[in-house]
Amino acid sequence: MSFKKNLSYKAFSKSKFKSIKHSTYFEVYDELFSKYRNKKITFVEIGILGGGSLFMWRNFFGSKARIIGIDINPDAKKWTKYGFEVFIGDQSDINFWKTFKKKVGMVDIILDDGGHRYVDQITSIECILSNIKHNGLIVVEDTHTSYMDGFGDKKYSLINYIKHKIDKINHKSHKLKSVNFKENIWSIKVYESIIAIFIKKKQKQTISKPITNKGIDDNAKDFRVEKNKQNKSFKKIFEKVKNYFR
Ligand SMILES: C[S@@+](CC[C@H](N)C(=O)[O-])C[C@H]1O[C@@H](n2cnc3c(N)ncnc32)[C@H](O)[C@@H]1O
Repeated sequence: MSFKKNLSYKAFSKSKFKSIKHSTYFEVYDELFSKYRNKKITFVEIGILGGGSLFMWRNFFGSKARIIGIDINPDAKKWTKYGFEVFIGDQSDINFWKTFKKKVGMVDIILDDGGHRYVDQITSIECILSNIKHNGLIVVEDTHTSYMDGFGDKKYSLINYIKHKIDKINHKSHKLKSVNFKENIWSIKVYESIIAIFIKKKQKQTISKPITNKGIDDNAKDFRVEKNKQNKSFKKIFEKVKNYFR
């Protein structure tokens, strides 16, 4: 099992208290978080439960990191005696985030392993987006709940919300220009059960425009094959694709 080689898995195994993660997450954590190890970062995890993941993140990021936990269960406050900052509140409450942001300031990484309802996931992203540092990220776990019953109205699932964000990212293209995209989202990466949202400050994002180099122009013709739309192979693929949307 390859995940056992991951540094985050080693940090998880070494944790003094119980933590529940999925086997596929460790490769993702290593990929996304390794560059932040041993740095003076602010890392926030929503969802503390038995405290084990706070210790896992301490093991993984090192002593310079500020590790903050959020939970709706007031008992979670006990983890402060181990050097963690703990905020008690409901991640689907806008007022909770207002207070949190005032007290904590800017954050490098926020990992959502909280209630997993769409209202939890979406409210947290909407509220914290402006509080993530340039080159920081928001990571949401257990995104498979978007396909499950019991987490809210699926029309407003996290995955549908992310599709909307993808549309907005693409509309930054100078070819479209129809949306004034004011958010700090640079890109979004999808893994099994995890979504990572990469943040770049709007002012630091490259503006889309056509660029030509100084190479010799041999006036090559830019071909488009319109007739193929009617051919057999296209129809076959199109029928298959249509089924995805049924
Ligand atoms: C899956 S557990 C967290 C597991 C932990 N991160 C670990 O790795 O072991 C989910 C936690 O989220 C908390 N939670 C549930 N709904 C919440 C909400 N709306 N706001 C904040 N925390 C919430 C629960 O009390 C629970 O402790």
